[in-house]
Amino acid sequence: MDFELTETQRMLRDTCREFAERELVPNARRWDEEHHFPVEAVRKLGELGLMGVAVPEEWGGAGADNVSYALAMEEISRGCASTGVIMSVNNSLYCDPILRYGTEEQKREWLVPFARGEKLGCFGLTEPDAGSDAAAQKTTAVRDGDFYVINGAKNWITNGTRADAIVLFAMTNKEAGHRGISAFIVDLNTPGVTRAPADRKLGINASESCSLYFENVRVPAKNLLGKEGEGFKVAMSTLDGGRIGIAAQAVGIARAAYEAALAYAKQRKSFGKPIAEHQAIAFMLADMATDIDAARLLVLRAAALKDQGVRHTAESSMAKLYASEMSHRVTHKALQIHGGYGYSKEFDVERYYRDSRITEIYEGTSEIQRIVISANLLKA
Ligand code: CAA
Repeated sequence: MDFELTETQRMLRDTCREFAERELVPNARRWDEEHHFPVEAVRKLGELGLMGVAVPEEWGGAGADNVSYALAMEEISRGCASTGVIMSVNNSLYCDPILRYGTEEQKREWLVPFARGEKLGCFGLTEPDAGSDAAAQKTTAVRDGDFYVINGAKNWITNGTRADAIVLFAMTNKEAGHRGISAFIVDLNTPGVTRAPADRKLGINASESCSLYFENVRVPAKNLLGKEGEGFKVAMSTLDGGRIGIAAQAVGIARAAYEAALAYAKQRKSFGKPIAEHQAIAFMLADMATDIDAARLLVLRAAALKDQGVRHTAESSMAKLYASEMSHRVTHKALQIHGGYGYSKEFDVERYYRDSRITEIYEGTSEIQRIVISANLLKA
């Protein structure tokens, strides 16, 4: 077993670290306060190849591996968790299924400009009545000649306010349950698509999610992604990759909080010495550092399995479950170490605490990850 990163992986990680330090860290607090979508930063991510990290160069991406993608997600999210999720949705939830299931023609039209960062993608699985129970889709797609006609509503669609296209799931055969779900690539500027205003949320305030409504939206039949009835498999296997990105995001947020707490604990004095020298604080720091390393190892294992082309459903769920709950613990402790200042908007830790919370919910709640992991254990 080799714990060393390759030179390419290290270089990409360092590029992301420098970019985050220069472009994201100085702005993240203001973007959060102003709910400002970081248009400029996202454009620059595209220029750096970070909107299609694991997409081969011939399809507009950086041609790196999934370990590199996880490292990049950690660094970008350490700088700004909102920018992290914008990036992860485009990479994992939009580009990846088109790369894996798309035809040559679909890849040319719907992958290349998105992997290059010239266009933005999103993922439409969740509905008002189909969250954790993703198979309970109500959106329908009915074949009409060379088109499918789509009707329904999707909600919590990250990037939905600005995306050019969506990988959308809809029922093509209601009687068949999850085997009646199909995936489509839908141009979001098609007549009949309405975007609601951005959702108001607890954290990741510089990213935007919204509800999307589809009313008799005519989608060319050639935009079917994969086979009819294969959509649930497309969705689930896509989330196997997406959960690695969110787990890496959780590690990045936790690291930002830990680094802030470590620096603060070294300079803040109480009872005649830096608080880091009180065992109560030193042990918290020890637990935080250990927790972050453990989570990162789970993330990198899942990413390495994806690179090997091995099924990694349980390992991705373990990484997502552990990293998101770890991020909650670490940001909680970081805020505690800061005392009253931690509760203040003058410091960044309250934002890290708020931002970490969503990682336990989106791309499958912690409870769903436990279902996936335990189902795999019982099957073995
Ligand atoms: N890869 C390939 N196929 C898979 C699979 C996977 N990872 N997981 C399941 N399948 C297949 C199964 O093999 C089965 O196929 P067959 O019919 O051929 O046997 C089929 O899918 C159904 O499997 P299950 O019986 O396990 O399905 P289920 O209905 O019990 O649901 C679930 C399983 C794990 C609970 C699933 O519904 C789930 O993951 N729910 C959470 C949804 C979720 O994560 N939503 C996130 C939305 S995206 C988001 O959050 C984006 C954002 O904003 C950032």
